[in-house]
Amino acid sequence: MWLIAPDDAHAPRDRQRAADLGLEPVQRVPDQGFYLARDESGLALRYAPDTAGSGLRCALADSAGLANRQAGGRRSPLARAFGLHRHPPMRILDATAGLARDAATLAGLGCDVTALERQPALYALIADATQRIDESPSAPAWWPHWQPPVYADARSWLAARSGDAAFDAIYIDPMFASPRRKSAPQKALAWLAELAGADDDAPEVLDIARQQAMRRVVVKQHARATPIAPPDLQVRGRAIRFDIYLTPGA
Ligand SMILES: C[S@@+](CC[C@H](N)C(=O)[O-])C[C@H]1O[C@@H](n2cnc3c(N)ncnc32)[C@H](O)[C@@H]1O
Repeated sequence: MWLIAPDDAHAPRDRQRAADLGLEPVQRVPDQGFYLARDESGLALRYAPDTAGSGLRCALADSAGLANRQAGGRRSPLARAFGLHRHPPMRILDATAGLARDAATLAGLGCDVTALERQPALYALIADATQRIDESPSAPAWWPHWQPPVYADARSWLAARSGDAAFDAIYIDPMFASPRRKSAPQKALAWLAELAGADDDAPEVLDIARQQAMRRVVVKQHARATPIAPPDLQVRGRAIRFDIYLTPGA
């Protein structure tokens, strides 16, 4: 659902995007469930009747949070999983972009990042935040690394591009089973999990990603989760782990 106020300057564009994504345009807050709404900071995902907080937003729309993540630099577990502490920036497909926190962090490290997402409301958040920065006179220095986002299922999109060698690395961050929690970041995760559902197709995404990535596939996992397939390398963070699958001969 997309809450579109008819007198909002963005209404025609929002209506078009809602139609493109198959999201129902509504003119009042629904009694129950997820909906997208626009305010002065852009598009947010909200959950009725829970009106507290400012909703979930794409990481591109949160410059302070993003600066914090990017400050982790090339020694962060995410950067090390891509080998960025040793090798130059690369072309990365984030095949499960979600709120684009990891994708934006990698772009901030100088990688050319394409964010792909199949959940329409989440894709709308990414597309809207991208458009706002594109149209802003003060885009961040790393913005040239941010590629147009893609609305698709990673499996069919990658299969259709078979052999085009467009990405050095492909990133997969499947949804962890996430209990409902109260603190802000964990609440965001619980919302994401409810909206996007379980990512049971992660093994299939990994299979096809391994055929397409020129250098490596990186899978984010819970620290104690069983790997989807035996990895070549692992990078461990506090609560998470990155399983790395190297492309033979790369
Ligand atoms: C845990 S979230 C990713 C969070 C993200 N790394 C971030 O930093 O915000 C997983 C996301 O992957 C998406 N997803 C899972 N499987 C997918 C697929 N086959 N194709 C496209 N998107 C997929 C889900 O819709 C969900 O939004």
